[in-house]
Amino acid sequence: MKKVLITGGAGYIGSHIALALLDRDREVVVVDNLVNGSLQALARVETITGKKLFFYHGDIRSAADLDNIFRRHHIGEVIHMAGLKSVSESISRPDDYYQNNVVGTLNLLDSMRRARVRRLIFSSSATVYGPQPCCPVDESCPTGATTNPYGTTKLIAEHYLRELAAAEPQLAITALRYFNPIGAHESGLIGEDPCGIPTNLLPYIFQVAIGKLEHLCVYGTDYPTPDGTGVRDYIHIMDLAAGHLKALDNLQPGFRVYNLGTGKGYSVMEIINAVEKISGRQIKWQPRKRRKGDAAECYADPSLAQRELSWQAERCLEKMIADAWRWHSAYPQGYVKE
Ligand code: NAD
Ligand code: UFG
Repeated sequence: MKKVLITGGAGYIGSHIALALLDRDREVVVVDNLVNGSLQALARVETITGKKLFFYHGDIRSAADLDNIFRRHHIGEVIHMAGLKSVSESISRPDDYYQNNVVGTLNLLDSMRRARVRRLIFSSSATVYGPQPCCPVDESCPTGATTNPYGTTKLIAEHYLRELAAAEPQLAITALRYFNPIGAHESGLIGEDPCGIPTNLLPYIFQVAIGKLEHLCVYGTDYPTPDGTGVRDYIHIMDLAAGHLKALDNLQPGFRVYNLGTGKGYSVMEIINAVEKISGRQIKWQPRKRRKGDAAECYADPSLAQRELSWQAERCLEKMIADAWRWHSAYPQGYVKE
C-alpha cells in the first residue's frame, strides 16, 4: 500500500493523526520544518504505536525538499497540515502567513503534480466562516468575512484547491474545517505544546492549573449566551484524527468540504468549571472586555460528515479535559525543546 505524507506532522494535530494512521497499519512520512513542531512528539508516537515513521526536516515552501520526498517514497495521499496558526501573530506578520499557508500550499500542489499524487486532505478551519448570524454553522453558510490574515489565508487556500480540482478532474481533494480541537492522546505522552503564552482558551487554562500563569482573562462576560461568556464547539483531538481517516477512506475526485465539530457548544465558564472539577485545581479568572473579532457563539452542524463520511465525534467534554490534564500534569514544560 502507498504511504501517507503528513506535512506539519510534528505539530499538535499532525502527531495525533500520524499515531492514528500507524495504528491503522498505514506507512507514514512526515515533513516538518519544526518551527512549531517537536521530534519528541514523533518519537513518542513511535513508542505508543510500536511502529516507525519516516521524518524529513523540510519546508513546504521548498520545491526541492518536497520533490526529494516524493522521489524517495511511493506516496498515495497527502494530509496537508503544515502552516502557521496564530490569529494575533498573523495580524502583525501577514507576509509570513501568506508565504507559509498560501504559497506553501501552491508549492505542495505543484510538487504533487510532478509526482502524480492526486489525493489530498487539507486542514482548514471554522475561521473561514467569519462571524455568523446564527448557529449551528453548516458548510453552506457564507464564507469570506474573515477577521484576520490567518483566516484569510485558509480561505484563499480553499478557493485555490477548489478551482484546481475543477480544472484537473483527476484530483481528489477534501478540506476539513476544524472547530476547536482540544485534548490529547489518552496515553498522556503527546499533547498540545504551545510556544510562549498561549492565546487559545484550553492551553491557557491548563497553564493556570499547573501554576505557570496566575489567572485567566475571560474575554467578554456580556455576550448574549446563557452565562454571558463565549460559546465554542470543542472537539477531542482523537475524534478529529478519526475524521481524517474517514476522509481518506472516502476521498473522491473533485473538491469537498466538511465541518469537523461535535455540534455542541460550551461556554468559557463551563470549561473553567470542568477543568476545576477534573484537575482539582482552582482556576482564578478575571473579566475582560470582548476580544476583537470574536463571535458570541460558534458551533458546527456536523451532519454532512456524518452522512457522507460515516464519522461523528464520540468523546465528551470530560474526556477531552481529562486526557489533556493527564498530558499537561505529567509534562508541565511540554516537550523538551530541541
Ligand atoms: P501546529 O503549529 O502544532 O502544527 C503545524 C506544524 O506545521 C508545526 O509542526 C510546524 O513546525 C509545521 N510547519 C509550519 N510551517 C511549515 C512549513 N513552511 N514547512 C513545513 N512545516 C511547517 O498546529 P496544529 O494545531 O497542529 O494545526 C495543524 C493545522 O491545522 C494547521 O494548518 C492549522 O492552521 C490547522 N488548524 C488548527 C486549529 C487549532 O485550533 N489547532 C484549528 C483549525 C485549523
Ligand atoms: N478566551 C478567553 N480567554 C482566553 C482565551 C480565549 O476568554 O485567554 C475565550 C474566547 O473569547 C472565546 C473562547 O475562549 O470565547 C475560545 O477562544 P479560543 O481562542 O480558544 O478559540 P477561537 O474559537 O477564538 O479560535 C480558535 C483558533 C482559530 C480557529 C478557530 C476555529 O484560535 O484559529 O478556533 O477553529 F480558527
